Amino acid sequence: MKDIAEIQTLVKQDMLAVNTLIHKSLHSDVALVNQVGHYIVNSGGKRLRPIIVLLSARAFDYQGTDHINLAAIIEFIHTATLLHDDVVDASELRRGKKTANSVWGNETSVLVGDFLYSRAFQMMVNIKNMHVMEILSNATNIIAEGEVLQLLNCHEPKTSEADYLQVIRSKTAKLFEAAAQLGAVISQQNSQYVQAMSVYGMHLGTAFQIIDDVLDYSAETDEIGKNIGDDLAEGKPTLPLIYALKHGTPSQQQILREAIINGSGEVMADVILAIKSTHAIEYSIQIARDEVKKATDALTILPVSPYNDALYTLAQFSVERRY
Ligand code: IPE
Ligand code: IPE
Ligand code: MG
Ligand code: MG
Repeated sequence: MKDIAEIQTLVKQDMLAVNTLIHKSLHSDVALVNQVGHYIVNSGGKRLRPIIVLLSARAFDYQGTDHINLAAIIEFIHTATLLHDDVVDASELRRGKKTANSVWGNETSVLVGDFLYSRAFQMMVNIKNMHVMEILSNATNIIAEGEVLQLLNCHEPKTSEADYLQVIRSKTAKLFEAAAQLGAVISQQNSQYVQAMSVYGMHLGTAFQIIDDVLDYSAETDEIGKNIGDDLAEGKPTLPLIYALKHGTPSQQQILREAIINGSGEVMADVILAIKSTHAIEYSIQIARDEVKKATDALTILPVSPYNDALYTLAQFSVERRY
């Protein structure tokens, strides 16, 4: 399996069913809920988390239909967190389109996010599996905790690499972990396999967020569909910044510290220079690669199959991606 397009082909039938269910499940008698829900769901997300649910289930030769429901549920949870996240981050662009908060305002985004969150839980109840409930209720709780923890690190130049890792394992990796684990759980695999899949998802998700943070300093807006430089504008100490702050010259350290404290994008050019001269991007990518290695090592106990192969390729994609 060489790229994401091949993976999409592999799960095409399942994904059609997931998308049909997503659209059906968006329904509300309140027109604004439908409108915002469709706007965000049709805006072209990569659907990586649902793909992981599908691949994980298929890797264990799952023959039921719960993987379709779970993939839609996971995408709803992801979408709800994005609606909330764009309010918190005051972001204006997502998936190449104006964010819901910049079209309809913060109130609408928060409330439609709540609608999607709670719809996900209604759908979860239908699966009638307490282990599934446990995984997803824990995951959503930890994601919320991670976003709050990140709030505490904003504008804080003392934020360490370990503090940063703790935030991203919670806010991002946890949902990838749940997605990967659920395929094994619904296929009634023993704890060794369930554990292997959660290790896979956790490390993949960590790598995915590190690269997201790298792209915030190095991507093209057209490609990534988000405004770059948002993290600096918020004074968010992400890995490239933390590393540059530790290894820069005294004058660079001064610039970086002030940039984090003031949360100003105005010094972007100087910050980029400091990031370049300390090789902070290369360092961050290496850390992401180390995470991917741990993710793919966990897959070695799985039976050989194209689905297992695709999980491997997906982990590589999380680092190589430009969008
Ligand atoms: C964005 O996730 C949020 C992060 C955890 C970085 P994705 O990049 O998977 O978002 P979409 O769904 O493809 O837009
Ligand atoms: C992603 O966080 C949102 C969640 C994981 C809840 P970020 O704020 O870092 O991601 P983007 O850049 O807005 O997608
Ligand atoms: Mg954000
Ligand atoms: Mg955020």
